[in-house]
Amino acid sequence: MEYTIKTLLTRKEVEKRIKELAKELEKDYQGREILVIGLLKGSVMFMTDLIKEINLPIVIDFMSVSSYSGTTSTGVINVLKDIDVDVKDKEVLIIEDIIDTGLTLSYVKKMLQKRGAKSLKICTLLDKPSRRTAEIKGDYIGFKIPDEFVVGYGLDYDQYHRNLPYIGIIVKK
Ligand code: XMP
Ligand code: MG
Repeated sequence: MEYTIKTLLTRKEVEKRIKELAKELEKDYQGREILVIGLLKGSVMFMTDLIKEINLPIVIDFMSVSSYSGTTSTGVINVLKDIDVDVKDKEVLIIEDIIDTGLTLSYVKKMLQKRGAKSLKICTLLDKPSRRTAEIKGDYIGFKIPDEFVVGYGLDYDQYHRNLPYIGIIVKK
């Protein structure tokens, strides 16, 4: 497919918003320690930029999950790489690149809840609320975006464009 990428959110806008989110988190988690869990691979750029701005004790880990192709609507996801740390009694903050249907996060959230996290919040760079099927909402949201396929800042099209320093919409030629 031939396509171009149209800027949706500039680097400046994204960086500014991430700093705002970091300040909000720093305030809300004051005096506490956060276990930050990033969902690979999309959340990496967002997560690293975000946590550098939070002046609190933070431990990080990563989880890699994928939808079983064809059965996305069932909400069954495959854990490709689990976290190494124990979440029991920890204040967990899940970092995601985008909430679309919400199925991925509702599964991950339930899983970590069962393991006894003390608190569980979701921080997502992007939110496509119009596509939601699972009952899930982000506690910290960078930007609400329209129902378009976006890339950059960790988000990919066929694994490419994760390194773009802005968020762009894939436009078919
Ligand atoms: P659900 O539907 O479970 O899925 O909330 C969230 C995951 O779907 C991917 N996703 C996208 N990836 N551009 C992307 O690069 C998009 O516009 C997009 N929408 C959904 C993403 O991997 C996310 O973690
Ligand atoms: Mg993802």
